[in-house]
Amino acid sequence: MARLIKIFDTTLRDGEQSPGCSMNLQEKVQMAKQLETLKSDVIEAGFAISSPGDFESVSEIAKIIKDCIIASLARTIPKDIDAAWEAVKYAKRPRIHTFIATSDLHMKYKLKMSPEEVLERAVSMVKYAKKYCEDIEFSAEDATRSDPKFLVKLFEAVIDAGATVINIPDTVGYIIPDEYYKFIKEIKENVRNIHKVDISVHCHNDLGLAVANSLAAAKAGASQLECTINGIGERAGNAALEEIVMSLYTRKDYLDFECNIDTSKIIRTSNLLTSITGVPVQPNKAIIGANAFAHESGIHQHGVLNNRSTYEIMTPQSIGLNENKMVLGKHSGRHAFEKRLKSLGFHLTPEEFNQSFAKFKQLADKKKVIYDEDIEAIVSKHCFNTPE
Ligand code: KIV
Ligand code: ZN
Repeated sequence: MARLIKIFDTTLRDGEQSPGCSMNLQEKVQMAKQLETLKSDVIEAGFAISSPGDFESVSEIAKIIKDCIIASLARTIPKDIDAAWEAVKYAKRPRIHTFIATSDLHMKYKLKMSPEEVLERAVSMVKYAKKYCEDIEFSAEDATRSDPKFLVKLFEAVIDAGATVINIPDTVGYIIPDEYYKFIKEIKENVRNIHKVDISVHCHNDLGLAVANSLAAAKAGASQLECTINGIGERAGNAALEEIVMSLYTRKDYLDFECNIDTSKIIRTSNLLTSITGVPVQPNKAIIGANAFAHESGIHQHGVLNNRSTYEIMTPQSIGLNENKMVLGKHSGRHAFEKRLKSLGFHLTPEEFNQSFAKFKQLADKKKVIYDEDIEAIVSKHCFNTPE
């Protein structure tokens, strides 16, 4: 039976940390409602201690959203955990997400703490958070550049202290998929009490591998994947929710996973985020880019018109789009041209068609895209035919 993968959306926390993507209270609430409609398992609503506005957003979302776990981030510091709890306590299912860095680099230069001190802090703060809340996620920041033996010791201790989710982030987008697979396996096989918790991963996209790494980690045993809508996030962003989910859905035959996301809400969720932040999506972005379901070349258009599976591995409807797009340009062929003429109401004689197609090709050599108005101009100039 397919294994269930939980989706942890951090658009409102890690996503919001990317330049130009900050959101106000009303925008965050609107986005959270859409994430609930999308059926995200967890919404990380913010970092409550980071600003009064973020605190208010987390607590408002915790009050309003009923069908998702609501998490707030907190460093392993009592005042952060207090603020996280004060904000999420209204949720039906609250979670405190606490983190500390575990790589030698971060411990030495950022925290100025020894590994023993980090371990002691992590355990005491998980115990501290546990007094408030049953559901505690613990993240080992920069885990993929940390000593796996140290992580095994640390994870065992925080699970004993009450953590319910162990997150193993690729904070700087450094690891390679098969390396991550082995890394997660090593943790899974050596942490004595790991069966008591969910294993989560959180991948950044610095090498463009965030989604591939997330899938490799799931194959190795991760049961929660952290991601953001449109892949927004620090630097090159986080793993894109829509790419992860459509990979699970489209390649269920190979991956054998399922998730709770309603894929038909993907495009609406992506568009909402774009309209709120004003940060556009690149046209060739997988799943949600303007060209993701567009075909221009004649060979592809002909194939798709006969049977869409020739060049489409998922349907536009599966992500909530009405239709694919046949873009008319210099690579387009007679089949697509004919179909567009019919959809515009033109019924040409074979001679008129040949003349119009020749004119279309001449114009397409000069213009990047041929629009419906161009076709109308060509037809009215060269034929006597008018649309019905
Ligand atoms: O990238 C990261 O490591 C994080 C943690 C706080 C989970 O965002
Ligand atoms: Zn992150």
